[in-house]
Order: sequence, then structure tokens, then C-alpha cells
Amino acid sequence: MTEMINIALPKGRLGDKVYSMFEKAGYECPSIKEKNRKLIFENPEVGVRYFWVKPSDVAIYVERGAADIGVAGKDILMEAGSDVYELLDLNVGKCRMAVAGPAGFSYDRNNELRVATKFVNVAREFYAASGTDIDIIHLNGSIELAPILGLSDVIVDLVETGTTLRENNLEVVDVITEISARLISNKSSFKFKTKKIVEITRSLESIIE
Ligand code: PRP
Repeated sequence: MTEMINIALPKGRLGDKVYSMFEKAGYECPSIKEKNRKLIFENPEVGVRYFWVKPSDVAIYVERGAADIGVAGKDILMEAGSDVYELLDLNVGKCRMAVAGPAGFSYDRNNELRVATKFVNVAREFYAASGTDIDIIHLNGSIELAPILGLSDVIVDLVETGTTLRENNLEVVDVITEISARLISNKSSFKFKTKKIVEITRSLESIIE
């Protein structure tokens, strides 16, 4: 029997795109396209079992071995500091992690900089590198509101098209890093299921645009 590989996919638009990549690479699972609320789908013929999980939870499933491999954004991997292998950049879900502030923003070094973000660890690390004192305000969404309402001076957030910033009179102050979706593996799965995981990685690599 073919060895089964458990694969955590991020629910939503990125996940649909990523599943199409697995399909194209030869790991199709037709039942995943049925309209229902099931969360697990498998195709024993090609040895894959997919689960849909919240994008921010993929790395947890993989790190703890509930999934052998998965696909997570580099933003989530950086923030969580996940102890997994990063096997491949899938070149989808591309955006930038950036600092943004009101147009013309300039920072007065005598004051603590108030930074609103979902990515508190990324923000702390970024500002620690330049020795800047910051006050972190941890928000869960609509981060762009914070500087508009005076809750923070700047934000650290993802910028894709730049539309959200533009429409709220904010602009990029610093780009922290480029982000994209990554294929990740549990460390012991990689040791015990090397052949199959490498085969999946190579097949995906061959169809990346
Ligand atoms: C993300 C991100 C920005 C926006 C950037 O938010 O946090 O707000 O997309 O995209 P753009 O540059 O193309 O405008 P998301 O839609 O995930 O919602 P959130 O506000 O809950 O974070």
C-alpha cells in the first residue's frame, strides 16, 4: 500500500490555489471538490490525506506532527518561530511585511514609538535590531485603523496591492521582508517518510510558475 502523507492546507483563497498546485503535481483528491463541510479528504491511490485548517494554525499541526507537511505563509512562520523544515517557496500568496504610517510620517526618537500589529514578535525583532524603543499594541485585524484613530504611530502589517493603505492615507515607511507561501514539513516525518515527502516536494517544484 502507498504510504499516506497527511497534508494541512490553509482554508480560503490561498488554500484553493495551493490545492490546485498539488493536483497538478499529481496528488489529486477529487472528493475535496464536493460541496460539503467535511474537513478531511483522502486519496489512498496517490497516498495523500488533506485537511483544511485555519491558515494561522497550519504550522501548529505540522510542528506537532498531526500533519506531516503543510503550506503556511512566511509571515506566520516568522511570527510563531515554528520548529519545522521549510522545504519550498511556492511563489504564491506573495506580499510584503511592512511598517506603514500616515503620509509624511516622521519619527521623533525622543518618544517611544507606538506600533499596532498582529505580528508582535516580528515587530519586536525588527525594532530591536535598530535599538528603537517601542510600545506594542496587539490587534487582531483592521490594523490600518490604529494610526488613523491615534491608537498608534505606525503599523506592522501585510501589504499586497497597497490598496488598503492608499485608501486610508497611509504609506509604507519600511519594508521588513518579502512574504510568500512555503511548503513545510514536520521534522520527524521528514526523517521517517523522506522518500515520499521529497517526491512531493520535487513534483511541486516542477510546476511552480
Ligand atoms: C490584509 C492585511 C491588509 C490587507 C492588505 O488584511 O492585513 O489589511 O490585507 O492588502 P492590500 O495591500 O491588497 O490592500 P485582511 O484582508 O487579511 O484582513 P485583516 O484586516 O483582518 O487583517
